[in-house]
Amino acid sequence: MTTAAAQEAFLKAFHSEHPAVTGDAFGGGRAPDGRTSYEILGDRVTGRRRVLDLGCGDGMLLEVLARAEGRRLAGVDLSPESLALARRRPALAHAALVEARAQDLPFTDGAFDACVSHLALMLMGDVDRVAAEIARVLSPGGVLACVVGGGAVGGEAYELFGALLGETVRQAPADRRIPPLGDRRTRDRDGLAEVLAPAGFAMADWRTVPIDLSGPAERVWSSVSGIYDVGPLDGAAVARLRRAFLTEAAALAGPDGRVPCGFRIHVATARLR
Ligand SMILES: C[S@@+](CC[C@H](N)C(=O)[O-])C[C@H]1O[C@@H](n2cnc3c(N)ncnc32)[C@H](O)[C@@H]1O
Repeated sequence: MTTAAAQEAFLKAFHSEHPAVTGDAFGGGRAPDGRTSYEILGDRVTGRRRVLDLGCGDGMLLEVLARAEGRRLAGVDLSPESLALARRRPALAHAALVEARAQDLPFTDGAFDACVSHLALMLMGDVDRVAAEIARVLSPGGVLACVVGGGAVGGEAYELFGALLGETVRQAPADRRIPPLGDRRTRDRDGLAEVLAPAGFAMADWRTVPIDLSGPAERVWSSVSGIYDVGPLDGAAVARLRRAFLTEAAALAGPDGRVPCGFRIHVATARLR
């Protein structure tokens, strides 16, 4: 199996068991201005009528986009189970929700005014080809807006979880570790600009926003433990990780019992030249 095929097989298997994991973790998170990361991204394509969501998962972002009247929406994803959940959303009754690879989009040239992608572009192999495909399906002047992960806010529960997870994964046998996913260039401004430029995009905006996932320790655990790396670990290792996290997170809790937990996202917008 090629590296790309192995990555995609892993993602499909993970999401067949956890089809709504990202929305469950991030749907309740809030930026300092009160918006979710999905709303922040949706606002980047205001006024664009035909919008494609790459790696749409269970359709949470598409549902936000459907709040605007008269839109034509489409989403692609590798996971049939996540797409099945998206199809259950009444707001997406008319959206085209297709099982497909972002590297090989089943749409005609110029079919969309905007393309969005929430926490998905950074996972995709052969991202240069993805960029070329996005450019192909956008009309002239089209916009790509995406959210990619930016890591933990220091001193809070996401960072604590990352340290405990790192230790757990180091002790796990090789067949319990995830394959390397995506292309690191997508995680910083210059790298993403380098990926997008050959496809004809110019970076228009890049900003980093903290998303607050704070809450009772058990809820924070369920958000942070949705991460891919936990999927292949055996049950005993996950149970130990959970115990260690809940014990150490208790020390971070405020008087109201809420455990502070922040995750940074990068929000990027690029335009076709
Ligand atoms: C972390 S989830 C995010 C899901 C959704 N965008 C959200 O934020 O709720 C990443 C999604 O990207 C999809 N994905 C990853 N690589 C893909 C590819 N090459 N083509 C299409 N979908 C892909 C996965 O199947 C998964 O549903």
